[in-house]
Amino acid sequence: MHGLPPQSRPTVWRMVVPAIIFVIASTQFAVLLASYYDVGLPVRLDVSWKPATKPQLPTHFTETQTQLTDIPTVFSDPNADNYRWYTDAKLRQLTGFTVLHGGDNDWRYIHHLHRQLGDMVRVIVADEGEERHKGTFDQYQKSASRPDGIPAWKWFRMAYYPTGESGIVGKAWMISAEPRLPQAEDLELVRSASTPDDYTYGPSWFVTGSEELQIKSAPGKADFTFLGYGIMPIPEDTVVVPWKDRPNRVYLLAKQAHYFHNGHQRVYDFSFFERAAEELSREFPGFEFVGGFEDNRSDEVKAKWGPVPSVIKNLGLMNATRFDEEYGKSRLLLGLGSPPLSPSPYRALARGVPFANPHTMREDGKGWAYQQHDSMMDVPEPYVYQVEAFNYTSFVHTIRKALQTPIEPLRFERMRQDAIDRRMHGWVMHDWRGLASQILDDRLAGNETQGSNSVRVFEL
Ligand SMILES: *[C@@H]1O[C@H](CO)[C@@H](O)[C@H](O)[C@H]1NC(C)=O
Ligand SMILES: *[C@@H]1O[C@H](CO)[C@@H](O)[C@H](O)[C@H]1NC(C)=O
Ligand SMILES: *[C@@H]1O[C@H](CO)[C@@H](O)[C@H](O)[C@H]1NC(C)=O
Ligand SMILES: *[C@@H]1O[C@H](CO)[C@@H](O)[C@H](O)[C@H]1NC(C)=O
Repeated sequence: MHGLPPQSRPTVWRMVVPAIIFVIASTQFAVLLASYYDVGLPVRLDVSWKPATKPQLPTHFTETQTQLTDIPTVFSDPNADNYRWYTDAKLRQLTGFTVLHGGDNDWRYIHHLHRQLGDMVRVIVADEGEERHKGTFDQYQKSASRPDGIPAWKWFRMAYYPTGESGIVGKAWMISAEPRLPQAEDLELVRSASTPDDYTYGPSWFVTGSEELQIKSAPGKADFTFLGYGIMPIPEDTVVVPWKDRPNRVYLLAKQAHYFHNGHQRVYDFSFFERAAEELSREFPGFEFVGGFEDNRSDEVKAKWGPVPSVIKNLGLMNATRFDEEYGKSRLLLGLGSPPLSPSPYRALARGVPFANPHTMREDGKGWAYQQHDSMMDVPEPYVYQVEAFNYTSFVHTIRKALQTPIEPLRFERMRQDAIDRRMHGWVMHDWRGLASQILDDRLAGNETQGSNSVRVFEL
């Protein structure tokens, strides 16, 4: 251990030496996670010094001690902020480790805790911080002149999707919620023995070949760290409405009216909805477009685009339970282009509701420019339909096919709770210092292996 001399640590620390600590912080809230994975004793911190702003704790946390065993499912409240949702979902997955809040991205406080806990702190997840706010990582980084600082190899940042970003050490210090697109040959659909109206045998599974912790951004490139998230509830507890009991309903994935025309993510003309409703009502009795959204557009924007087509029945904002019920009664979850990469398509598939994933075309017509959900690109029909933007034929054909084609519930192997737990465990226990040491040696020798502008030399 480094930091404070051992004799100045409270006795309890010597009792929990095999413990592991995480720090998670974000602009919304932050957590420091202490673990007594092997010990099972509550960790007590010196709480005489507190972060300047009381962190907003998820309700299932007590501030200074917690054991993450019975965390309620907080998986996806469609009304909650995405990052918050994501982090809560992470915490659910960290069963076996202790999670402690580190303040509102409060590097001063994180440093305070790190000085007490030293080597027990394995990983810290936080944004870089603001100097005027509560300090930055740089201000508390371990260096020759600050030997009790926080080593760069403990600090992880989160990006929902693995893009070109990197940590100070390298790409593996970016953790992501989605894997990089798997190669088509890695994809495998393992069908359940059930028929769409008999779910007794449980869901089918989609195996992507990207279940592991370390993923390549591209062949031959540096690795990212893929943590992902689990899909809740577990298959046994997921209500699947039998196909024959579902009305001819298409659920529009949008909780904000502006998602219907969100910049380059816009994919349909408003007229499509009126036209399709008229056409499909003749073939499918009671056909309906349903959504749950609020209209927070400015008067100017409303004047430009007009109202959301009146043919769409708006249920307004709903809590997660009601949201699940409403789209669960649908025969298709229709993507509108926004928001990208949301968890809702996974939730829908788990309930036997297929997803329509729209994409725009490149100007030269060769290939796709934008698609709503990258990870759904290679999931075959009838689970996921790829819809071409601004193409009414593609739009109405997709809906027509989906209304007539039941699917069994589908889940992704990488979102299975035990796969998540394994990855989480692997992440925390990984020898990050060892990997950082090798990268640093190469870097100092002029052999840069991480291919990014944000990497630099650091103190181990
Ligand atoms: C939209 O407007 C409602 C009511 O004015 C407000 O409560 C809500 O926070 C707004 N949502 C967003 C995302 O701005
Ligand atoms: C969700 O909303 C419904 C009404 O739409 C309500 O009956 C239910 O109690 C709410 N559930 C939670 C968990 O708040
Ligand atoms: C529109 O989509 C249909 C059905 O997928 C396709 O056959 C057709 O080529 C598309 N039209 C254009 C102009 O791209
Ligand atoms: C650079 O480092 C990598 C990883 O340690 C190693 O595989 C590679 O051979 C090195 N290249 C050179 C030119 O030393």
